[in-house]
Amino acid sequence: MNENRLSALIAERILREGPMRLDSFLELCLYHPDSGYYSRADSRRDFVTVAQRSSLFRECVAAHLVEAPERFGWSEPVFVELGAGDGELLATLWEKVAARGWGERVFFVERGGRRQARALARAPGAAPLLSLAALPARREVIIFANEFFDAFMPRLFALENASLSEAYVAFDTASDHRFALTFEQVRLPDAVRDPLLQHDLATLVGAIETKDLARYSTFLFEFQESLASYCEIFTEFESAYVLAFDYGYTMAEIENYPRGTLMAYARRVATEDVLTDCGARDVTCHVNFSLLETWLERAGFPEQARASQSSWLLEHGLLEFVEAAAPDRKREALNDFKSLVIPGTMSETFTALEAWKGCNRS
Ligand SMILES: C[S@@+](CC[C@H](N)C(=O)[O-])C[C@H]1O[C@@H](n2cnc3c(N)ncnc32)[C@H](O)[C@@H]1O
Repeated sequence: MNENRLSALIAERILREGPMRLDSFLELCLYHPDSGYYSRADSRRDFVTVAQRSSLFRECVAAHLVEAPERFGWSEPVFVELGAGDGELLATLWEKVAARGWGERVFFVERGGRRQARALARAPGAAPLLSLAALPARREVIIFANEFFDAFMPRLFALENASLSEAYVAFDTASDHRFALTFEQVRLPDAVRDPLLQHDLATLVGAIETKDLARYSTFLFEFQESLASYCEIFTEFESAYVLAFDYGYTMAEIENYPRGTLMAYARRVATEDVLTDCGARDVTCHVNFSLLETWLERAGFPEQARASQSSWLLEHGLLEFVEAAAPDRKREALNDFKSLVIPGTMSETFTALEAWKGCNRS
């Protein structure tokens, strides 16, 4: 099946059942089992992540993760990477963990079938899991995720003169046979079912309403309900450490994104149009770190820390990895280092989020 057939399949469903909520539409575009972007055999690299690009990043992060159990006084740790992609970081982590004799304790969760196969080829000793919930350990869990949380497709809302509506995808048969957004009015708290999420959505709307909205006739914002559900899995762990890198904003910064943050990527070109070329483009959104922190707190992580990715890397010995580079790799390592820490580069816009539960940090 190609992207035209995926578009036809989605169009048929919309014509049969009516407009589709945007998060469901995007789920199909990314994860349809045959022709979703992440499932396709020919999936290209439309977006290069820091874990793919930078060996210094991989070395620094993997070293930190492998040393974590010792810092917490843990003797039987398990390591899991969420959304391991093609497995570049997983391979470095697995090597370091195996060198300590814990090789069989590395797991990864990767939803894209082809990506899972490529990750396994790079880290053959790591065990793929269908879901984090299937991890065969409940304690001493070290969890790593790079650009994973931004892959949870959000619901999209519009706030206009205190009136809230939600984005659905319609199919326009009258004129140009294209997908188009249509907005349906919703009320708080009915927009979501779970009372805690009703509270979160109301908090988000409240945060937007406190800003100076006079400049915008309509304020668009996302709500990653599926990410909130995913975080519930973390509740099951008795002791765990999470390290995640992603891009996003806090509640206080939301006014910087009046048009929402959804972006589609094809051949390294970014566009705001997420409705065309179903299955042929990667789609991401910024993570709302304030909400993510709330969801982790509910999952039992009382201690959390947030920093820019560049300052986290510097604090965790990035420079030492440059110094340790072999003479013939020094120049490359220095360039890599610069790309990770120079102000104004991508690395500054990324955030490192750490969360601890049941970890002895004294
Ligand atoms: C932007 S990629 C990042 C890949 C890799 N971590 C890296 O830094 O190169 C996000 C990955 O998360 C995977 N993913 C998204 N949602 C997932 C889920 N619920 N379970 C497992 N994998 C998921 C996608 O298939 C994709 O490979």
